[in-house]
Amino acid sequence: MLPQTRLGKTDIQISRLGLGTVKLGRNQSVKYPQAFDLPDDATARELLDCARDLGINLLDTAPAYGQSEERLGYLLRGERKNWVICTKAGEEFNHDYDGEGASNFDFAPDSLRLSVERSLRRLRTDYLDIVLIHSDGNDSHLIHHHQVLHTLAKLKQEGWIRAFGMSVKTLEGGLVCAREADVVMATFDSEKDDDRLLMETWNTHTTGVLLKKIFNSGHLLKPEARNKWINAIIEQQMKVIFAQNAVNSAIIGTLNCQHLRDNVQCALLGLAENSKLA
Ligand SMILES: NC(=O)c1ccc[n+]([C@@H]2O[C@H](COP(=O)([O-])OP(=O)(O)OC[C@H]3O[C@@H](n4cnc5c(N)ncnc54)[C@H](OP(=O)(O)O)[C@@H]3O)[C@@H](O)[C@H]2O)c1
Repeated sequence: MLPQTRLGKTDIQISRLGLGTVKLGRNQSVKYPQAFDLPDDATARELLDCARDLGINLLDTAPAYGQSEERLGYLLRGERKNWVICTKAGEEFNHDYDGEGASNFDFAPDSLRLSVERSLRRLRTDYLDIVLIHSDGNDSHLIHHHQVLHTLAKLKQEGWIRAFGMSVKTLEGGLVCAREADVVMATFDSEKDDDRLLMETWNTHTTGVLLKKIFNSGHLLKPEARNKWINAIIEQQMKVIFAQNAVNSAIIGTLNCQHLRDNVQCALLGLAENSKLA
């Protein structure tokens, strides 16, 4: 079973891996190496059962992930309290009939509030555990001009959300979130100075840290590689990310239960290696 940890300074306990749910709701204009069909309800249900049985309690969704929120709301009926749900605000995705689809961004305070209200309805819940600003890349501008963190802080004060933050794309955004947010979601590349600096800062501030795209949306795991090499790559990646004390959880997108099992197995090895080093 995957262990849990406290998310930063919040009172939220999350599993060390989370399940990303882009693939439950959107298959247009995505960055995965292979095209895929959205799973039917029975397959999605099996995936959630598999995640739960492996000890995963963290689900990551967003309005920008097409039908993901709505489908989770339906699938999680009666079991809401067993899950920690992270969703986002600021980006929308509209499917279209030529298979492309496009994102729109709106970070005005009223729009963020309406987005959170809609997420509550779609997810059939009266609270959201984590809400992140779905950055368009201009993290500093969103924080300083649109006051996006302030808007989410008010929604937290009102009791609609338990923790807030931003899915960041820049060093500046990550540094501000360390001071002003509960949680940050980011990619991590151990070769990059900026990423190492952010990890140190988040560790010092005890910011909640969620990693996204740890397999570079699947491109790190070349489809043509043989299975044993794929697991070696995954294990190495888990060792690298869990060597970072700041990291609370890594969100991995998959539709495949065996892949979930492999990821959990490799995460356990990465966590064990890290505890040996500590
Ligand atoms: N906030 C943001 O701006 C943002 C941006 C991107 C992503 N995210 C979040 O982060 C999550 C993860 O990102 P991601 O889904 O883009 O990429 P990812 O987790 O790096 O990679 C997912 C891809 O890897 C494959 N995969 C996973 N485990 C595997 C295994 N054991 N063996 C072989 N293939 C495996 C999956 O295919 P299979 O389905 O075949 O397993 C999927 O195509 C997303 O789902 C989303 O929740 C957030």
